[in-house]
Amino acid sequence: MVPPYLFAEISRIKAEAIASGADVLDLGIGDPDMPTPDAIIQALKSAVDNPATHRYDETAKGWKSFLESAAKWYRNEFGVEIDPAKEIVQLIGSKEGLAHLAWTYIDPGDLAIVPNPAYSVYRVNTLFAGGEVYETPLREENGFLPVLSEIPTDVARKAKLFYVCYPNNPTGAVAPIGFYRDLVAFCGQYDILLVNDMAYSTVAYDGYRNPSVLQVEGARSVAIEFHSLSKMFNMTGWRLGFALGNAEAVANLAALKSNLDSKQFPAVAEAGAAALSGIRNEASIEMYQRRRDALVDGLNAIGWKVAKPKAAFYVWARVPAPGMTSADFCQELLKRANIVTIPGSGYGTEGEGWVRMSLTLLGDRNGERFSEAVRRIAESGLISQAVAGR
Ligand SMILES: Cc1ncc(COP(=O)(O)O)c(C=O)c1O
Repeated sequence: MVPPYLFAEISRIKAEAIASGADVLDLGIGDPDMPTPDAIIQALKSAVDNPATHRYDETAKGWKSFLESAAKWYRNEFGVEIDPAKEIVQLIGSKEGLAHLAWTYIDPGDLAIVPNPAYSVYRVNTLFAGGEVYETPLREENGFLPVLSEIPTDVARKAKLFYVCYPNNPTGAVAPIGFYRDLVAFCGQYDILLVNDMAYSTVAYDGYRNPSVLQVEGARSVAIEFHSLSKMFNMTGWRLGFALGNAEAVANLAALKSNLDSKQFPAVAEAGAAALSGIRNEASIEMYQRRRDALVDGLNAIGWKVAKPKAAFYVWARVPAPGMTSADFCQELLKRANIVTIPGSGYGTEGEGWVRMSLTLLGDRNGERFSEAVRRIAESGLISQAVAGR
């Protein structure tokens, strides 16, 4: 039976609360609340007026101007040259590509290494394709990075794919370039395709810049990296992303997709090309940073010890009430304070004991709704004395 997608259940509970008239603060799904920048909307409007966009995109890997803009964007952002004709494939959002990569590589009985906790798509699609997963735990003491020396040799030998995601959803952790170096060497040694999900590539604070795995020498022979316009340009609903890196993996994914979909509406690809060619969207990043500070500083002030993420837009916090599961805590918080958060257990067994709060909140202008969340959490009585004192 197909498992329900995590957010479907949370959306249902939230809808019930809103229907009952509650002022719900939704720190659940990570979906940029600010509109898509106007220049991108204008680019879409003019692309729609061009009848050449009204037809199938019959290219092998994606709309030409989109692939070229993606390669240029990538070079400006990370200083790495990518061949737009061979090393990039356009996606209908990165979720689609990450899912179909499992279908491309996993036959029944094959193995993928996936993090725990993680965005569910890697694990679920490996299982859908008849494969098995080996879950590598992401723990606070290791900076939420997999410990490669703990992966058994027989697992490494059998694995076809190794999924990682940095900046990380759900933990907000970042990967230093040294970790990518070790991972590239590990995947090279065992002939594993390294998959880095970089959906939050440009979301970073305090001047921090996320590295890309392809900055590591030799990475191109083992790695494919997934990028998304969703979080970068507030374009979640537009469904546009791309994967780049190892030419064979790019070609294999494109070949699978050619049997499944007929690509994105070319006018959307044109608008994506315009976005990648010149939009920085710094206003949104600055907004997330102000919200992060309002939420994290506020929670620490009321005794819930929470770390400040350097990147992505998630605050990953320990359940502040010992004895409660993360699901119990999130439900209780929704009931007592009308705040939607996501139980860490929804991201895997290692997420038990944690809660994820997103910095995307419709209706917040400058962090004031996050301060309101802190006030309600303090009043909820859910932060135990034991935690407040630690
Ligand atoms: C870690 C991660 N990867 C990929 C995605 C998918 O993004 P999209 O399909 O909109 O590009 C998300 C969306 O939330 C995500 O959190």
